[in-house]
Amino acid sequence: MAVRRKTLPSRRALRRFDFLASECPNSTARACNHALRRTCGGEGKGRDERNYSVRKGHWHRVTDYLVSSRWTVTAPVAVGSHGGSVSNTSHSLPRYLGVMPAYSAVDDALTTKLVTFYEHMKDSSVPSHQATILLFDPRNGSLKAILDGSVITAKRTAAVSAIATKLLMPAFAEVLCILGAGVQAYSHYDIFTELFSFKEVRIWNRTKEKAVKFASSVNGPVRVCSSAQEAVSGADVIITVTMATTPILLGDWVKPGAHINAVGASRPDWRELDDELMKNSILFVDSREAALTESGDVILSGAEIFAELGEVVKGTKPALPEKTTVFKSLGMAVEDTVAAKFVYDSWSAGN
Ligand SMILES: NC(=O)c1ccc[n+]([C@@H]2O[C@H](COP(=O)([O-])OP(=O)(O)OC[C@H]3O[C@@H](n4cnc5c(N)ncnc54)[C@H](OP(=O)(O)O)[C@@H]3O)[C@@H](O)[C@H]2O)c1
Repeated sequence: MAVRRKTLPSRRALRRFDFLASECPNSTARACNHALRRTCGGEGKGRDERNYSVRKGHWHRVTDYLVSSRWTVTAPVAVGSHGGSVSNTSHSLPRYLGVMPAYSAVDDALTTKLVTFYEHMKDSSVPSHQATILLFDPRNGSLKAILDGSVITAKRTAAVSAIATKLLMPAFAEVLCILGAGVQAYSHYDIFTELFSFKEVRIWNRTKEKAVKFASSVNGPVRVCSSAQEAVSGADVIITVTMATTPILLGDWVKPGAHINAVGASRPDWRELDDELMKNSILFVDSREAALTESGDVILSGAEIFAELGEVVKGTKPALPEKTTVFKSLGMAVEDTVAAKFVYDSWSAGN
């Protein structure tokens, strides 16, 4: 039997994804909303195992293959929502290889994302996060496509933050603040300014020149701030997209009722938000399971998780937009699955 295999060169995938995003502005957000609705039903029983499953033994074998003497497994390797990762323990800077497998019966999609995550070297043109998504035919396991996972990661993460913001931000939000000026800062800016009407956008970054470059390269006015406190002060919606390992956002600075999307600090001992903010906010997460094993902000603060975002999308938990809210995002493999399938189907249809 002839096997149909397509490879999407990264530039083509990028162009196609941008095309899709520009033709249907909410398409990525819609795909992620769809994934959240189906996969985040609460702990354990709420998940639809038929729609979303990972074969444990298989992923163990994959990970075992990746582990050499200098690399070690840093997270459970067969966790449904977020896969597993290995890290190079002999190196002083963080170096991770993550495996994120997921299957969606509803979308008829089976993927795994391989993502490397290295500390960004000063002046290097190599991005800190590089990803590839393999899309398989769930009927026979054949590889159908290899997609640029970096673009999908940037866009799906921002799309999920946008969904959280739509549900959790205060009424009449006027000021958007972005802390960080890397890849995720750009993708968040794009979707947030497309979906919402903020009167002012502010940015702060550790290296000010990058914030200045950001402000001059995006399509719209952005105020560059000299400190995180200046940027955050009075902001209605705050996005933290840094590789910080200690808090860069303090509860003291945050306007009561603001909504925060905390996107960085994806290791159990890394922080972006301080204890005061974590404990005095209503905490939403993409996955309880992931937050309790991977998020330093959640684990080290001891903050109580109020709901998964999927529960709010489904209407089984309230959004509480009048309160100060934090959405702790860690990213879920199924977000990559629906986004990759969406790109592949659109490309196959010649759109
Ligand atoms: N939740 C999810 O689904 C998801 C998905 C992808 C990525 N992420 C996370 O989002 C974050 C941003 O990713 P990215 O792709 O945008 O990375 P990136 O392009 O490498 O940008 C990193 C940003 O973090 C800043 N930064 C680095 N170390 C810092 C520190 N110690 N204190 C304050 N700022 C610091 C950098 O500032 P300089 O310009 O000064 O270097 C830069 O603005 C990362 O933590 C990443 O792991 C989350």
